[in-house]
Amino acid sequence: MQICRTVADIRTAVAQYRRDGATVGLVTTMGALHAGHMQLVAEAKGTHDRVIATIFVNPTQFGNPADLESYPRTEAADLAMLEAAGVAAVFIPQVSEIYPEGDETIVETTRLANMLHGLVRPGHFRGVATVVCKLFNIIQADAAYFGEKDYQQLQVIRRMVRDLHIPIQIFGVATVREADGLAMSSRNVRLTPEDRGAAVCLSKALDAAERAAGAGASVAAIDEAMRAVIAAEPRGRLVAIDIVEAGTLTPVGGIPAGDIAIMLSVAFGPEDNPVLLIDQREIRK
Ligand code: PAF
Repeated sequence: MQICRTVADIRTAVAQYRRDGATVGLVTTMGALHAGHMQLVAEAKGTHDRVIATIFVNPTQFGNPADLESYPRTEAADLAMLEAAGVAAVFIPQVSEIYPEGDETIVETTRLANMLHGLVRPGHFRGVATVVCKLFNIIQADAAYFGEKDYQQLQVIRRMVRDLHIPIQIFGVATVREADGLAMSSRNVRLTPEDRGAAVCLSKALDAAERAAGAGASVAAIDEAMRAVIAAEPRGRLVAIDIVEAGTLTPVGGIPAGDIAIMLSVAFGPEDNPVLLIDQREIRK
């Protein structure tokens, strides 16, 4: 597995793959890899000759410096997992490589970035779109794979690719879960054992939403069913429940007529540096 730390090095690696006639799949990550990331790699490997992974803790998508500081960094373990999974090359740039001195260009999906989760984390999706656009331009893969757990992120990236005519295919990959239903996330390691146990309330709330929707409940009743589950878990603080039209993220009301997506975020731990967990479910009519 090639380890590339500069734009020039990863471009040289990709150029060789192209000379070999190989197709290239991309998995972008911030490291602290888990089974969810490895599922993205497996999907990419299933359909591409070479898989490239990136590890870059992107500072522009963190609002809170303490959150950036405490983001888990496990480079040696990450590299071992990627190598074992048959990844061809890993791109691990420094911040100055991605954001060179004097950098002033941003990418923003103006509507999708500034609604829902984007209101709770101002600037977050601008940071995501900007770094993902840069990584797409640097690597020029044929396709990239993103987890469906970060549902709004996936819609932001799809819209950016469409609007900027970036020649890459985007695939969403189903969330990988722990045995009790907790969505895998790099943030889970920051949970205390008690909060880890309590965190199952996210998937339970989504189960309650799915049951309510299946029984023909209104958006208000689905929301209420979820709130009841979170309220029953004193360790979790509800941050947001968003019930929207799948894909466009347009808010829905009444009894949903089409496919909906439900996005949920719940905070655990200290108020000044909480562990913010998110989960989502698409419910098809
Ligand atoms: O989902 C993530 O890990 C990050 O938001 C991403 C897409 C790698 C951009 O930094």
